[in-house]
Amino acid sequence: MKITEQLGSALGATVEDFDHTSASDADVETLKQTVYTKKIAVLKGQDLSPQQFLDLGKRLGRPETYYEPMYHHPETKEIFVSSNVPENGKQIGVPKTGKFWHADYQFMPDPFGITLIYPQVIPQRNRGTYFIDMGRAYERLPRDLKKEIAGTYCRHSVRKYFKIRPHDVYRPLSEIIEEVERKTPAVRQPTTFTHPLTGETVLYISEGFTIGIEDANGTPLDEELLGRLFEATGQLDDTFEHDNIHLQSFEQGDLLIWDNRSLIHRARHTTTPEPTVSYRVTVHDERKLHDGIRVP
Ligand SMILES: [Fe+2]
Repeated sequence: MKITEQLGSALGATVEDFDHTSASDADVETLKQTVYTKKIAVLKGQDLSPQQFLDLGKRLGRPETYYEPMYHHPETKEIFVSSNVPENGKQIGVPKTGKFWHADYQFMPDPFGITLIYPQVIPQRNRGTYFIDMGRAYERLPRDLKKEIAGTYCRHSVRKYFKIRPHDVYRPLSEIIEEVERKTPAVRQPTTFTHPLTGETVLYISEGFTIGIEDANGTPLDEELLGRLFEATGQLDDTFEHDNIHLQSFEQGDLLIWDNRSLIHRARHTTTPEPTVSYRVTVHDERKLHDGIRVP
């Protein structure tokens, strides 16, 4: 296994000669440390079946199966499929996922620490995923803004981006909204937490999932404060040129592993739709997202 930092970027490392079937536990630990410190590890030259991809994920932690079945891979349900390429005339997984800033499962009570993405069909023109390291973004906030958010909490919900399922057709919208609020009520997290594996302070908010900010007593604060945080961290920059934004490219055979505590990400916008398919496995490592989470 050979690890090389990506040149010209604070984020990312490439990992060559990693074979999950023969890697030692020490190799896996080194790989995880690379994910925590460099935030994105790009495994090169991977040629894996869905089951083998899942097995690789299991070397890093305990898989979390996505709560909505329409995203599941037909044979390997732990794999979340993003695809706009029908197989034998049938839609597999869900098209156009994640085209907004978010951390995976941020709207759930117990989000996982690690995301693995294995692109299957890679667009020719608009490849890559945007990332913001919210630890670095926090460091760069003006001191007054840091002070303003100290001790506050944020609420996160899937409601803005919940995708209508095939069986929702002909259901009243109010009934679907009621179901979303009942099954996935908004969760409250501290606005910043200490990354349990690196000690960094992470600003845990995203434009896609964060719907409110409140003080320690639960009294809502002006929404405009959230707007300033989105602005300062680069999430409102439609040109994607903000200093905090990193575009991670990939090629066939690459498998991306990233730190879902520190990073928010966003699928790249395409004006002309191109075929794109990717598989995702998400795993809990040995720690909760942060030490304040007490759910089992
Ligand atoms: Fe995502």
